[in-house]
Amino acid sequence: MRKWIVAGNWKMHNTVAESIALAKAIKDGASGSKGGIIVLAPPFTALFNVSEAIKGSNVFLAAQNMHYEDKGAFTGEISPGMLMDIGCAYVIIGHSERRKYFHEQDNEVNLKVKKALTAGLTPIMCVGETDEEREKGVTKDVVGRQVRQGLKGVEKIENVVIAYEPVWAIGTGKVATSAQAQEVHAFIRGILKEIYGSKVDDVHILYGGSVTQDNIGDLIAMEDIDGALVGGASLKADGFLGIIQNITGDK
Ligand code: PGA
Repeated sequence: MRKWIVAGNWKMHNTVAESIALAKAIKDGASGSKGGIIVLAPPFTALFNVSEAIKGSNVFLAAQNMHYEDKGAFTGEISPGMLMDIGCAYVIIGHSERRKYFHEQDNEVNLKVKKALTAGLTPIMCVGETDEEREKGVTKDVVGRQVRQGLKGVEKIENVVIAYEPVWAIGTGKVATSAQAQEVHAFIRGILKEIYGSKVDDVHILYGGSVTQDNIGDLIAMEDIDGALVGGASLKADGFLGIIQNITGDK
C-alpha cells in the first residue's frame, strides 16, 4: 500500500521570516491529516529555520538540489551530509529548471540520486518531456531515457521517489489531464518493474505541473499517481492545505 505524498517546491521564493510563517501555517493546518506524507522544500537559506519550525510534526524537510560529492572545493554547492545535518529527509534531484537553466544532464542526475541514497536522503527524481517533445510524439522516449539513465546502478528503488513533471505543465496553468498523466506514470512503473520486479509496487510516482486543489482529486484517483510535487500552489498555506484536504486515504 502506497501512502500519498504531497511535496511543496518553493523554488527561489520566500525570505527566512516568510518561510517560517508559511511552514508554521502548513504544519498547523495539516496536523490532523493522516495517512500521507507532507514535504516542504524551501530555499537553502531557510532550511534550518523551517527544520526548527516543523520539528515534531508530520511535515518533512526537503532541499531543492545538492552536489554529488561529500565535500571539497565546489564553491557555491551544498553536500548531502550538510542537508542531513540540517534535518532534511528528502532532496529534489534533476528538476526540469535545473536541467534547462543549469544544464544538468542525466549522468549528473544519476550521480546525485546515488549519492542521496548513500547519505540517507530520499531523492525525488524529476523527469518529463517538453512541449516540443510531446508534439513530436517522443514523450516516452524522453521519459524512458531519463528514468533509465537516472537510476543506473541504483539498487534500493523502494527508497526513491519519482516525479513526472511535463515541462509544458510547469508554472503554466496547463495541467496534464489525469489520463495523460496516468499513461506516463504507468509507463514509468512498467520500466521500473522490468528492472526491479515486484518491489516497484511500493515506489511513489508523483505528478507535478500546475497542480492545484481543484485538479488534485482527478489526478490522485488514477492508479499510478501517488501524490504531487507542487510549485506555485505551495506558496500559500490555504492552497497547499487545500490540495492535502482533497486527497483522502492511502493509495
Ligand atoms: P508548478 O510547479 O506547480 O508551479 O507548475 C511544479 C514544479 O515545478 O515542481
